[in-house]
Amino acid sequence: MKIISFEGIEGVGKSTQIKLLNEYLGSKGLKTEILREPGSTVTGEMIRDILLNSKESLSSESELLLMFAARAQLIHEKVINSKNDIILFDRFYDASIAYQGAGRGLSIDFIENLIAFSKCPSPLITFLLDISVKDGFARKAEDIKDRIELSGDKFFEKVREGYISLSKQYPERIKLINANNSVEKIHQDILKEIEIVI
Ligand code: TMP
Repeated sequence: MKIISFEGIEGVGKSTQIKLLNEYLGSKGLKTEILREPGSTVTGEMIRDILLNSKESLSSESELLLMFAARAQLIHEKVINSKNDIILFDRFYDASIAYQGAGRGLSIDFIENLIAFSKCPSPLITFLLDISVKDGFARKAEDIKDRIELSGDKFFEKVREGYISLSKQYPERIKLINANNSVEKIHQDILKEIEIVI
């Protein structure tokens, strides 16, 4: 089983690209599954509800640990013994480094320890869809904002920078894709990278 993960700030178009890539992989006869984080297990979806919809204030530390509680459950239930050829992750552990590390200012070393502790396998490849914070939120202008989306532009600028620096730290794994392009062009950019690794 191989993991392909998709990352980026809000409004970059991850879900559309995951759907297109999933169709492509299916057409090649590969057995796939799409998992979203936080979520994709019964427990994980309950934790997601707290993380995104809680009206109570959550400390950054609680937020981080809840993300990892959901993640550890997902790894245990659906990843470690997966019979799929490929799991497509709509966000994975890089999101914790970008959002809780770079964004909230929590220790990246500690987050890396949590990644190891929760037995996260490393993705084969990660697509970082990149767009400005302004353009990302403009695409979501009609949506009601959840708790994390209400964190403000400064927070999301730090998250975006955090993601970009991760892509520089792991250039072999994390591919930065310009998400300003058309859906079809982004899909083609992704396929070029996929054909090299699959
Ligand atoms: P989304 O997947 O529907 O965009 O919502 C998930 C939200 O949770 C999004 O704002 C990113 C955030 N998030 C983190 O802050 N840390 C994480 O580790 C993950 C997986 C998501």
